[in-house]
Amino acid sequence: MNLIIMGAPGAGKGTQSENISAKFNIPAISTGDILRSAIKGGTELGKQAQSYIDAGKLVPDAVVIDIIKEHLATDACKNGFILDGFPRSIPQAEALDAMGVQIDAVLSLEVPDETIVTRMSGRRTCLKCGASYHVLYKPSATADVCDKCGAELVIRADDKPETVLNRLNTFHSQTEPVKSYYAAKGKLICVEGQEEVADTTKLVFEALSKV
Ligand code: AP5
Repeated sequence: MNLIIMGAPGAGKGTQSENISAKFNIPAISTGDILRSAIKGGTELGKQAQSYIDAGKLVPDAVVIDIIKEHLATDACKNGFILDGFPRSIPQAEALDAMGVQIDAVLSLEVPDETIVTRMSGRRTCLKCGASYHVLYKPSATADVCDKCGAELVIRADDKPETVLNRLNTFHSQTEPVKSYYAAKGKLICVEGQEEVADTTKLVFEALSKV
């Protein structure tokens, strides 16, 4: 199954793509995670991406298109994949088509902006492996410690309230049009993402059972 998951910043794309990846045994490819890992590693890509991410803007299309091209060409993706955070603009969606990639479904997690702003304030992210938690909705077993690798949990640099608002603006102006792009192809499935994590997962799996 070749899938795309879309939604506002903090809509739960990473949380749900982890569940989809485990259930269907397909890799989840998150452009956000790849860019953050490049920043942490101090690579050329990381240096290029940092100022855009810190400002809540999109990294240039050409940069992320190359990342996706490289990942989709690997053996890990030959039986399917879920793209988390790509495509995020019409040129990115067109580039995916130009690569000849067939997409089976595009899941859009629908969450109102007010919920996003509250939700982001409670997110905690692992410094080492990038795992994502929430102080109320998905707490780690020990406060501020990652269940998966034991490293410290921190607030992501771009989760500051003013950056969240910039990311929401970017989402509405540049990424929302991508929904119409896939709706016109009959691929878009909208799922309510404001239920609790487990309830949202149930809705996501129900939607995917019809693909
Ligand atoms: P990226 O990492 O993709 O950020 P994002 O889209 O803003 O999404 P998030 O990772 O913040 O949230 P999410 O939807 O995955 O939610 P999560 O599951 O963590 O991108 C970061 C930056 O990189 C971008 O701003 C851009 O600069 C750049 N970039 C990335 N891709 C790009 C591209 N294609 N083109 C150009 N630039 C690109 O959940 C959020 C929190 O809520 C967590 O704490 C979670 O535990 C909790 N939660 C999840 N679901 C629920 C629920 N149902 N109820 C309650 N809490 C929940």
